[in-house]
Amino acid sequence: MGFATNAIHVGQEPDPATGAIVAPIYQTSTYVYEELGKNKGYDYARTNHPNRKALERTVAKLEGGHSAYVFTSGMAAIDAVFRLYRPGDHVVLSEAVYGGVYRLSTQLLVHFGLEFSFVDTSIPACVLAALRPNTKLIYIETPTNPTMRVTDIGAIAKLANERNVTLAVDNTFLSPYLQRPIELGAQIVVHSMTKYLNGHSDSTGGAVVLTRPADAEKIYFIQRSAGAGLAPMDCFLISRGLKTLAIRMLQHNANGITVARHLDAHPKVRKTHYPGLPTHPQHEIARRQQKGPGAMIAIDLGSLEAARRFLNQLKLCSLAESLGGVETLISLPALMTHASMPKEVQERIGITEGLVRISVGIEDVEDIMADLDQALLYV
Ligand SMILES: Cc1ncc(COP(=O)(O)O)c(C=O)c1O
Repeated sequence: MGFATNAIHVGQEPDPATGAIVAPIYQTSTYVYEELGKNKGYDYARTNHPNRKALERTVAKLEGGHSAYVFTSGMAAIDAVFRLYRPGDHVVLSEAVYGGVYRLSTQLLVHFGLEFSFVDTSIPACVLAALRPNTKLIYIETPTNPTMRVTDIGAIAKLANERNVTLAVDNTFLSPYLQRPIELGAQIVVHSMTKYLNGHSDSTGGAVVLTRPADAEKIYFIQRSAGAGLAPMDCFLISRGLKTLAIRMLQHNANGITVARHLDAHPKVRKTHYPGLPTHPQHEIARRQQKGPGAMIAIDLGSLEAARRFLNQLKLCSLAESLGGVETLISLPALMTHASMPKEVQERIGITEGLVRISVGIEDVEDIMADLDQALLYV
């Protein structure tokens, strides 16, 4: 079956008890045993529940994985991946990762003995140079949040697989509709489902998609032991959001291309970071490995003051954290999503104070551009 069909039907079967075409929200903490040692497959909602199981089937199918496990947020999902490893294990990460991943690794997980190296994963030689005998995981975000740097997943998968190192890819910025890391050689895919997979800015959630049964067993153990599995209502909302993922991504992508070209030609915009532009340093890689450039754009307005004037004038677009919703969301990474990154790291990876991140929504594209244009008048 095709992607859109799978998104609507896999894990989204009618409720076997009543025939309801949309399965109900199983808003219960516990499940009654028929007799000691015998239940209907569920015992306690931390361990599992029907809405979670259904959503996990859909996400695994869409990413082409063996299985998936869903968590209360993208960060909880990413934390579960790092917990696969032991003190003394080494992880190589994209230096331009989401600020929360930087904080989790450098301020929390280092205290449990994990070692981290941050490198420019868009240059495979940098990844190669960072590998050590104890390297167990390469963790990449592509495109990176918010600098839109693209890593060649196939190239990194090759060097990882030759050395028996696991490759995990954060696919949040594109969704499996636009990029399929497992087909390119990754063993693990993570998502902030808060973003495109849900798509409606009304829930948080994260997913870990796995290709190896042994990893799946461990992630399920972590999920039920640490208790960060996603709750029924949130699973229901994200399952509902997934039904329109294909059509939303088509429109996000089309709007993204139009807005990026418009901003790139705008005299007030110093630089536009978008893999769909031929001037983007990894444009050719993006063309090869992505089905489209997506709807995440970063623009440099030159200074914090210029960015502030622009952001404070927005009327239709919202100044807000997060991304991937149907509505256009705009943020200032240096002071918002990436505030936990030290200033010198921000500067090294290109997060200037004038860098504005735009998550282009699926409103009428003329309305989005008109709002951006009127706000740019104040820059
Ligand atoms: C690329 C990326 N990965 C992971 C996360 C973390 O997800 P969550 O906010 O759902 O915990 C985010 C959040 O913005 C993100 O942008």
